[in-house]
Amino acid sequence: MEVKEALFSRRSVRKYADREVEREKLEYVLKAGAYAPSALNNQSRQFIAITDKNLLDKLNDAVESGSDEATRARIKGRSESGKFNFFYNAPVLIAVCDSPEAYRPQEDCACALENMFLAALDAGLGSCWINQLTGRSDEKAINAVLKEAGMEKGYKVYGCCALGYAEGKTLLSRPKTNEIVIL
Ligand SMILES: Cc1cc2nc3c(=O)[nH]c(=O)nc-3n(C[C@H](O)[C@H](O)[C@H](O)COP(=O)(O)O)c2cc1C
Repeated sequence: MEVKEALFSRRSVRKYADREVEREKLEYVLKAGAYAPSALNNQSRQFIAITDKNLLDKLNDAVESGSDEATRARIKGRSESGKFNFFYNAPVLIAVCDSPEAYRPQEDCACALENMFLAALDAGLGSCWINQLTGRSDEKAINAVLKEAGMEKGYKVYGCCALGYAEGKTLLSRPKTNEIVIL
């Protein structure tokens, strides 16, 4: 896929097929994240790809239990089964973490995530930024699952990538309204 095509056709995918992502494709997406720029060329990020269904469920429960009443009610209201899945039941969730020593962790992780989204599209996969773990890595229940998944000590999650085969058609990209100034 041409870079141009990926740039202008990427969309957030919020419905995933019950289908595994091939190891080769997952590695490609992770490598794309690792090749993103980082401040001072720190490269201190850690990418944790969770594919284990039990672990994903545990993480979803931990996110839900730490959410306030209003958020829980709003989120449950969106679900027919009464239990919303924060990761849209994607078969893979990549937690993008960074070290306590990183100079610009938020920006470094955002760059990695965007690279992953574009690589996912190139690999025929759908993806979506999942923000529910951001700023919550130290919550007891969430931290326990992240530790079990291998997050290094002191690291924090700055964003996650839900990854999988899209279920149904993904809508075409809409025109964007960011102001552009050329002098
Ligand atoms: C920092 C950030 C946080 C986001 N968090 C979420 C999220 O938690 N859940 C979600 O479904 N989408 C999330 N998104 C995706 C945006 O909603 C999405 O990019 C936006 O609606 C534009 O749609 P598009 O990605 O299809 O162009 C997030 C995007 C960014 C950049």
